[in-house]
Amino acid sequence: MYAATRVQTLSTAALYEELAVQARSLLEGERDAVANAANVAALIFHSVAQLNWAGFYWLRGNELVLGPFQGQPACVRIALGKGVCGTAAAQLRSIVVPDVHAFPGHIACDSASRSEVVVPVMRGNAMLGVLDLDSPHPARFTEEDARGLEALARIFVEATDLA
Ligand code: SME
Repeated sequence: MYAATRVQTLSTAALYEELAVQARSLLEGERDAVANAANVAALIFHSVAQLNWAGFYWLRGNELVLGPFQGQPACVRIALGKGVCGTAAAQLRSIVVPDVHAFPGHIACDSASRSEVVVPVMRGNAMLGVLDLDSPHPARFTEEDARGLEALARIFVEATDLA
């Protein structure tokens, strides 16, 4: 697959700086939550190398519900505290998982996934959901990816009207 085999040519920091510029431009003049989340998921999926899934889960009550994404169909509802997504949401922190098989309670939506990064999507102190990226490669993500994705999540929140 094109997205899964493409090699990253920029440094990670430069890649996310470039993605931040592109995200601002992509979201400019549009505040619809579904449209903006869909475009951010597509931008990430087609720009970050070696992914098999990129997308959002939104906090609804005490669980996360699947939002716009790119990749294979995924599990729809994840309880807070469950899996990587539910843990990141419950603890309000980004989580980088080098080996998903070693993460207790990891939820395997796509059996190809080997590593994962999840960052909370926050408006101030309010947790709105999470942004989740999966890779078929072990140890694909670093803390630098998490920082870059947190910045993209902030750009998305600032540009979007969310319930
Ligand atoms: N692996 C995630 C579930 C979401 S899918 O990867 C898209 C988790 O453990 O929370």
